Amino acid sequence: MRLKHGSRKAAVKSLVILISGRGSNMRALLDASLPCRVAAVISNRADAPGLEIAREQGIATRIVAHRDYPDRESFDTALAAAIDAHQPDIVALAGFMRILTPRFAEYYRGRLINIHPSLLPAYGGLDTHARALKDGVKIHGCTVHFVTGDLDHGPIIIQAAVPVLEGDTPATLAARVLREEHRIYPQAVRWLCAGSLSLDQAGRVHLNHVEQPGFALVAPGLE
Ligand code: GRF
Repeated sequence: MRLKHGSRKAAVKSLVILISGRGSNMRALLDASLPCRVAAVISNRADAPGLEIAREQGIATRIVAHRDYPDRESFDTALAAAIDAHQPDIVALAGFMRILTPRFAEYYRGRLINIHPSLLPAYGGLDTHARALKDGVKIHGCTVHFVTGDLDHGPIIIQAAVPVLEGDTPATLAARVLREEHRIYPQAVRWLCAGSLSLDQAGRVHLNHVEQPGFALVAPGLE
């Protein structure tokens, strides 16, 4: 990995999206008319269905197959080279199912974000909906965060909470959460594009000119 940033363009910011699968969050970003240029979609799997969606929308796609590399370091180096070919201001992980090295996360610090299907710091990792149901939580949700070397635990940008309903299965709960993912991920990217969102040296998130909500989600509801 070359540890030198390329020159940044001042005008319209550019975005590279990394996927591994169906790409519904990627589609939400593509459909959101974001004030940035989507430079490329990169997948670690050649069979990711999301690649076709990107191609249909005329977005450049690239495959960097993790299986072609002997270890995480060499995969991450190749991935960074593929990303840097587009000199993006923002790199969005959208269902990208590889653990990235701390060195990779540090290199893209402040411009690498992820969407996770839980209210972090609860339920990092996989099978979040089944685990939440097993624990009997009444409120679940999703989180967009900056990526650091600490898996699924980077500084939080935005979260959406949903109620867990009687009779929910992992699938019904996942669908309710996914609808919110598709709302909050474009919002986070929009803030980054506008320059109103940043990460400081101490790892704190700064969000300017954003109204704070004045409501609470209570589940089950009060009578
Ligand atoms: C989403 O639930 C996302 O939060 C998680 O992986 C899933 C990807 O779904 N990181 P999709 O590929 O965006 O449809």
